[in-house]
Amino acid sequence: MKRIGILTSGGDCPGLNCVIRAVVSHAILTYNWEVVGIPYATQGLQQRQTIPLSIHGWNLRGIDPLLNMGGTILGSINEGDTLAAAGEILSGYEALGLDALIAVGGDGSLKIIHELATMGNWHLVGIPKTIDNDVALTERSIGFDTAVNTIVDAINRLTFTAASHDRVMIVEVMGRTAGHLALHSGIAGGADVILIPEIPYTIQGICDHLKELRDTWKRKFAIVVVAEGATLCSEDLNNGHRVTVENIPDANIGSAKCGRGQYVAAQISNFAHGFDTRVSVLGHIQRGGIPSALDRLVATAFGKTAVDLVAQGKNHQMLAWQNGKVTSIPIESSLNQSPQLVDPKSDLVEIAHALGIYVGLTEKMTKVLV
Ligand code: F6P
Repeated sequence: MKRIGILTSGGDCPGLNCVIRAVVSHAILTYNWEVVGIPYATQGLQQRQTIPLSIHGWNLRGIDPLLNMGGTILGSINEGDTLAAAGEILSGYEALGLDALIAVGGDGSLKIIHELATMGNWHLVGIPKTIDNDVALTERSIGFDTAVNTIVDAINRLTFTAASHDRVMIVEVMGRTAGHLALHSGIAGGADVILIPEIPYTIQGICDHLKELRDTWKRKFAIVVVAEGATLCSEDLNNGHRVTVENIPDANIGSAKCGRGQYVAAQISNFAHGFDTRVSVLGHIQRGGIPSALDRLVATAFGKTAVDLVAQGKNHQMLAWQNGKVTSIPIESSLNQSPQLVDPKSDLVEIAHALGIYVGLTEKMTKVLV
């Protein structure tokens, strides 16, 4: 009989409780192991704390809340210098008598936990989660699908008010340095402009597109999706000068202080008269909510397979979603790579261009100008 621990680390997202549910059910029903939750990720190990977990944690009416509850019942942390407390964390792991640890996290937290696991010779299985979907070598991370659905829902709502008042609605979305959230939700939500970190944009490019929509196509409103890390070209397209890509100085990726939506709105108003802009920063709403069916399925498949990997003695593995199904890869092969970004030559970008969405400078334009 084994005693295994599970923790959730980094920013929360919908689907974390589904993984916990799958791990607990499979470990107990199939292998008859004991599963304990570690509260607040490595902090729980450091403080030698556990939360007992059992199957059928039903509420009074017999409903299992873990399946459709957002957040994480174990709590999480995404700040602080974890490695500074490595000694206490390693001795905490020993003291808790764990045979293996299943860690659910994004690339940042999985990297730290993997380092600890190597130092302490732990049996570690990692499960990728993040609404940003930027963990390398997995097509899906838990939480991404729900966040895309949340943004699409917001775009739907904003479309009707935009159309009623002939406005340009700017929707700022999360994603850090990756544009997956913006690109997926922008296409699915019917956006007219999608600005992502991987493809630089110009204000003139946006305004030309908005004018064309208004003057040629008689569209009186528009939806502009701006990723929090969207990249601006410092000079505009028509001036013939060299174009350099730079970040907007006042914007702060990775916190609620992001200002790129506001920046784009102000620039559109300055640059082209007659556009009435409004900004919605979706912020942490994107991290909340009931997990989508797809996130539940992925989380359940990851949780079940993680337990099997522990049973098979496979160490330092990470679950990944590849070609529509769950597989496992050495955790290092993912963590040694940079975050997975949108490929400007990908099918989705091509689809966006084909649909007449302004997605920033095309490869051809960038080559001419840079
Ligand atoms: O990585 C997930 C994420 O939601 C990013 O998209 C966002 O930039 C960041 O976390 C926000 O982090 P915090 O919860 O610390 O504000």
